[in-house]
Amino acid sequence: MNVEKLVVIGQGYVGLPLAIRAVEAGLDVVGLDVDGGRIKRLAHGDSFVEDITTARLGRALASGRYHPSTEYADAEGFDICVITVPTPLRDGTPDLSFVEQAGTGIGPYVRRGTTVILESTTYPGTTDELLRPLLESASGLHSPGDFHLGYSPERIDPGNPTWRLENTPKVVSGLDEAALHRVDAFYRRLVERTVPVDSTRVAELTKLIENTFRQVNIGLINELTMLSHHLGIDVWQAIEAAETKPFGFMPFRPGPGVGGHCLPIDPCYLSWQVRRKLGRQFRFIELANDINHEMPEHVAQRVMAGLNRAGRAVTGARLLLLGLAYKRNTGDMRDSPAVEVAHLLRALGAQVHAVEPYAEAQHLPDGVTVVELTEAQVRRADAVVVVTDHDCFDYDLVSRHARYVFDARNRCRGPAVERL
Ligand SMILES: NC(=O)c1ccc[n+]([C@@H]2O[C@H](COP(=O)([O-])OP(=O)(O)OC[C@H]3O[C@@H](n4cnc5c(N)ncnc54)[C@H](O)[C@@H]3O)[C@@H](O)[C@H]2O)c1
Repeated sequence: MNVEKLVVIGQGYVGLPLAIRAVEAGLDVVGLDVDGGRIKRLAHGDSFVEDITTARLGRALASGRYHPSTEYADAEGFDICVITVPTPLRDGTPDLSFVEQAGTGIGPYVRRGTTVILESTTYPGTTDELLRPLLESASGLHSPGDFHLGYSPERIDPGNPTWRLENTPKVVSGLDEAALHRVDAFYRRLVERTVPVDSTRVAELTKLIENTFRQVNIGLINELTMLSHHLGIDVWQAIEAAETKPFGFMPFRPGPGVGGHCLPIDPCYLSWQVRRKLGRQFRFIELANDINHEMPEHVAQRVMAGLNRAGRAVTGARLLLLGLAYKRNTGDMRDSPAVEVAHLLRALGAQVHAVEPYAEAQHLPDGVTVVELTEAQVRRADAVVVVTDHDCFDYDLVSRHARYVFDARNRCRGPAVERL
């Protein structure tokens, strides 16, 4: 197959790495995004996605085959189009408006023989029931038949240097055999291994299984952690011991809750679809969501109780939070449970200071003073709360100098440390 022109709609955490990888594989790539600010930055060689270095972006631009653009007209004459736009929740239900806008935008440029692939995470049936009719009515063509349509879930793990786009197996699907063949051949140019499945619905469900599995297991271990606290048993040690079983066990760690744009959201796409199509509840998902939502409150209560035992009230206490991002070693604060912990402690009357070396200033939560992690800051704090365990933090310094540490991540050791 001789693919010449690729359009990637959405130049965010998923779309930008895909576009750059395709340039490196020899394709001519238009990176489309409605966010003019992002496109301007990309055109100037300024990457905002941690996994794409400025040098790598610079090389892609210098090749003359990467064209960041806000104009759908630049898609004219494309061979393959991949859609990587957001799929958030609105009032607890899937918001597919971005996918609809992308489909409506690209539809007029779909020709006979072109291939369109959806990568955004969504409920099973979206590609066939929502995207297909949009593309058909905008193009006047049909799929299967005139153009090819497929789904391939993204598995990117931002900030993970080991598992990258090219060495993570890619699940691929199409509405029919011909579409599957096109989608598979495209991704085989970009990744080491593809995993073809029989239908777009199977591929859509695959992604939701992966994220629901994580969400449910984190919920399980979080509930066990809260109960173990009341039973007076060290859950962390029990997990470590269980982990020595060489088969049939996979460890999950407790934490202050789940955040970001995947785990709290993706399983809800599945439970929403189950409710809509079957009129039934997906009980595991609902339960895991409830438990994981409880965790920031649990952390705040435990900090309050810890201060109380030392004869200090949370009102007026000076607290030092380590980490505000939802995930270790990133600055991403979208739906971060750490931010919720900060708000809850402030609402209890504490003065909240936080150390967050990765966050951009404009995204920091109101009322939280950002400081450096120094011995003086640690000594001044009535309590240090480890919420997001970035590797760059000096946990030894914290363990040695803090009066009291509440550690939600099992990083600190010593007599002043209480673990989640
Ligand atoms: N980030 C991850 O780790 C990850 C991993 C797997 C799957 N996903 C899924 O991939 C999808 C994209 O996620 P992301 O993290 O890249 O989001 P993102 O917000 O980083 O990027 C999406 C981009 O799409 C642009 N956009 C929105 N509507 C558009 C339109 N109509 N036309 C052109 N551009 C448009 C936005 O301006 C934004 O720049 C989501 O469905 C997400 O659930 C994300």
